[in-house]
Amino acid sequence: MSTDKRRGTIEAHLVEQQYYKPPDEFIEQANIKDPNIYERFEKFPEGFEEYANLLDWYKTWDQVFDGSKPPFYKWFVGGKINASYNCVDRHLSTRKNQTALLWEGEDGEQKNITYQDLYREINEISAALKSVGIKENDIVTLHLPMVLELPMTMLACSRIGAPHSEVFAGFSATALSDRVRDANSEYIVTIDGYYRRGEFLNHIEKTDAALEGMDERPTVLVWTRHEKPMVDIKEEYILLKDLQKEHKRELVDPVERNAEDILFLMYTSGTTGKPKGCQHRTGGYLAYATGTSKYILDIKPEDTYWCAADIGWITGHSYIVYGPLALGTTSVMYEGTPDYPHKGRIWEIAEKYSVDIFHTSPTAVRMFMKWGEEHLEGYDFSFRLMTSVGEPIQPEAWIWYYEYIGKKEAVIVDTWWQTETGGHMITNLPGISDMKPGSAGLAAPGIKPMIVDGEGKEIDREVGKAGNLIITRPWPGMLQTVYGDDERFISTYWEEFSDTNSSEWEKWSYKAGDGAIQTSDKYFRILGRLDDVMNVAGHRLGTMELESAIVEVKSVAEAAVASRKHPEKGEVPDAYVVLREGNKASDEIRKCINESVEEGIGKFARPANVIFVEDLPKTRSGKIMRRLLENISNDEELGDTTTLSDPTIAEKIRIQVHGEGGK
Ligand code: WTA
Repeated sequence: MSTDKRRGTIEAHLVEQQYYKPPDEFIEQANIKDPNIYERFEKFPEGFEEYANLLDWYKTWDQVFDGSKPPFYKWFVGGKINASYNCVDRHLSTRKNQTALLWEGEDGEQKNITYQDLYREINEISAALKSVGIKENDIVTLHLPMVLELPMTMLACSRIGAPHSEVFAGFSATALSDRVRDANSEYIVTIDGYYRRGEFLNHIEKTDAALEGMDERPTVLVWTRHEKPMVDIKEEYILLKDLQKEHKRELVDPVERNAEDILFLMYTSGTTGKPKGCQHRTGGYLAYATGTSKYILDIKPEDTYWCAADIGWITGHSYIVYGPLALGTTSVMYEGTPDYPHKGRIWEIAEKYSVDIFHTSPTAVRMFMKWGEEHLEGYDFSFRLMTSVGEPIQPEAWIWYYEYIGKKEAVIVDTWWQTETGGHMITNLPGISDMKPGSAGLAAPGIKPMIVDGEGKEIDREVGKAGNLIITRPWPGMLQTVYGDDERFISTYWEEFSDTNSSEWEKWSYKAGDGAIQTSDKYFRILGRLDDVMNVAGHRLGTMELESAIVEVKSVAEAAVASRKHPEKGEVPDAYVVLREGNKASDEIRKCINESVEEGIGKFARPANVIFVEDLPKTRSGKIMRRLLENISNDEELGDTTTLSDPTIAEKIRIQVHGEGGK
């Protein structure tokens, strides 16, 4: 896609939506109901001390913010803190017998770990890690699925001051070895295997393969899903369960970390180039994750909170592990998939544990919508708050989520943020502002987003144009740098909209890479990655808008729009559409789709083709890979498919469109 497409403004045709009010009962009990909070956070940088004050510090900071060397900012300078202590030890005096992590295996097996249990486990694991030579500042790569050992190992690492770098378990051997190499990590913690749809997956073989061809082989530490290994384990690997037993009841003092010391790396892959190791600091990150968990997710210690994401992503780091545990709540973890052994599995778990807060993604909502509301029937659950994160949610999907899953009682927070931002950036405070389907809402307290054109000029809210989303003021949760590559940090996130010769932080702005629009009520609507913008007959359109219009058609569950080159028009949209269960592809539906696009956007944007498909190509974190659909529409070779959750889907669609003979 040419770069000029990323510049300038984008047209926006999204239909204004009505507001939904949070119920009075919600507002009464909300952690934050005083609108003055925005004023408190206006004070920069002092406002953010409110988040840092939610934590226990060994030594408080001398300076809240040091912006003298932009964009390498420092937060809570001089402060000393330990994340593991804040997530575990400090709760023992008040709630040691309360469940910290509630784990449900795919087969229904259940484990409850109290804060006291967690304390003991983490101490023993810390001792085990130290015994193999892991020291403060050594980067430990984790390649673990949704088992309790994942958060426990993370917290053991942070206890001894060894930054962790968790690689999502679904990632391949190559992805693992790339990340191990990039981080110069000398240790890998993995597991023999885990369950997926009733099958035991051999997981350790990915580490075996990743190590082939490495000159300096990392030390491999292996958890086992059961008491004994289920698959062959190489002799040189160390069994962590056995090692932990050797350190039974040992206590390891948490290391007093400087606020600016690294807490973890989280690799994120862009559309091009090798993955970037987003480096997060200890104090600022933990303060931001904890503060937003309290104010935005409305978490209270007595809640049962379930973020149905994978800890292998930033969402799981901030909002399954660090934020919720720092607040001393009960956090649920589920090992399996939502449709195994049946499509009511999520609601069964929600009922069983009486979940109060439910956290999921638009992809999941659209999937539930596709399966149909009948799969919710018979389960008695009721959420107080629900979230949406990871992609723009179409108003239609939002309303379905609100009505059927939230039962018109739960408040929804649509939270826009990124791996790089550490925590929520644009979202409503649920007890203060009304919800608006499809809009992430207002800027979070203390956060200064702005919509600018290609020259960096602010786009007026009243003109109804979308543009580049930038953040003009630093915040404590932001990444410190791209690990080992300060230049890439600057060129990816700062260069375009900053005066890079200036040493004043006010002249630097963070580029999110997303397109967005701000409406006159100050709500932000995110249109998605700017790479997902197309030019139809001279109109720059976000694919999200078209998709929203298509999903308005009742029988449609999900849609992705890709751009096809056209000799006259430049580009035309192809619509790839997944129908809700019980519907068959028909010209009638095709007609409804065309009408809905005409009505919502205009005739010019009508899809050139409507292609009914079984499923869409998605990354393992659930984001639609429109780039591959674009390859298919243009009969090009399929680009890199290694990050797909199911690589066969793209191939199936290609055959459907071009037959066996296509590229
Ligand atoms: C997208 C996930 C619209 C966006 C926390 C962003 C969203 C990218 C939303 C970051 C939202 C995330 N509405 N789009 N509420 N939340 N995104 O790093 O394009 O996996 O840049 O972090 O997801 O994805 P990441």
